[in-house]
Amino acid sequence: MPSDIRYADLIVKRSDHLQAKPSLDPLGLKFGALYTDHMLQVSWKEGSGWTAPSIDPVAPMTLHPCAQVLHYGSCCFEGMKAYKDKDQHLRLFRPDMNMDRLSRSAACLTLPEFDKVELLECIKELVRVERDWVPAKEGFSLYIRPTIIGTHPFLGLSPTREAMLFVVLSPVGPYFPGGLNPIKLFVETEVVRAYPGGVGDKKVGGNYAPTMLPQLRSTQRGCSQALYVLQDGHPGGGIVGESGAMNIFFLFQQEGTMELVTPPLNGLILPGVTRDTILTIARDFGNMKVSERQLRFGEIEDAAKTGRLLEVFGTGTACAVQPVTGLLKNDNTEITIPFDSEAAAHWLAKLPGMALAQPGTDEPFSLCG
Ligand code: COI
Repeated sequence: MPSDIRYADLIVKRSDHLQAKPSLDPLGLKFGALYTDHMLQVSWKEGSGWTAPSIDPVAPMTLHPCAQVLHYGSCCFEGMKAYKDKDQHLRLFRPDMNMDRLSRSAACLTLPEFDKVELLECIKELVRVERDWVPAKEGFSLYIRPTIIGTHPFLGLSPTREAMLFVVLSPVGPYFPGGLNPIKLFVETEVVRAYPGGVGDKKVGGNYAPTMLPQLRSTQRGCSQALYVLQDGHPGGGIVGESGAMNIFFLFQQEGTMELVTPPLNGLILPGVTRDTILTIARDFGNMKVSERQLRFGEIEDAAKTGRLLEVFGTGTACAVQPVTGLLKNDNTEITIPFDSEAAAHWLAKLPGMALAQPGTDEPFSLCG
């Protein structure tokens, strides 16, 4: 019987060379540019299963040049965050959702299954080892990046026979250099991020590599990211998807009420943990209709023209909640969106990182130390 990942087997080798901790300055701490001293790693082979997990000093990895990940992109990953609450306890935000998604992403690439509870225990131990790296400052957190790659050295196309799972940690502040200042998105109608029957709802590396060029073009046009809108020839405009690093929400004034809309989980967008949290919080507010429904770009344009587009924001683990105040189209016309800083503060107060964990409750955070 092949072995699974077991927390009881975890080996911890501490580094003798600890780095100095960074200063928590949103301008100086570039997202994802700095890594902690230790990583978690565990490898897998068909037939024998997973080896004992280990926490080791961060070091370059050795891969055969024919490893499948280097040629065919067999790679999936997660983005999670750890925080310190007001009592300096370590907390992870809804980590079970990340374990479930990682498992689904791995399955679609034939990367190996793993015991989600045991892996999470190992990740918690890694966070405990690195507890001094977990920022105790509003707007900052420790970003956790679990990754699984296919390492089998084989140039033919075949299901995974060897794999590696590793987790690295990065202390982070705001994802965008401007912090929580509103951003503009470029409406990308040429590059298709996801299509029906594809893997747009999985967190696989192959979904991200093709977004680098649209990302570059977006920044060249003064936008922070692209908003992917799938053209299908419909007179109502293309189908609004997501933005590479964020799900997207639109708040409309409708007859007598407000409606918060985000595209549905129809396979074309990533089922974001923050997306799910925002939907839950918004439904709890009880003062607006909350819809997961298909949105065509024409509806956004009409609402903007008639003053009914009240707010737009993106959500994601990395970016948390990001106000959007402009949608730039390829013809250089721009839809401008009002930004209600009071309302934004209301949203942000509900979110981890922007407001630290609620005292006295373990939900939705799980305590890890
Ligand atoms: C995350 O939000 O965790 C992501 O993986 C997005 C990534 C592009 C930074």
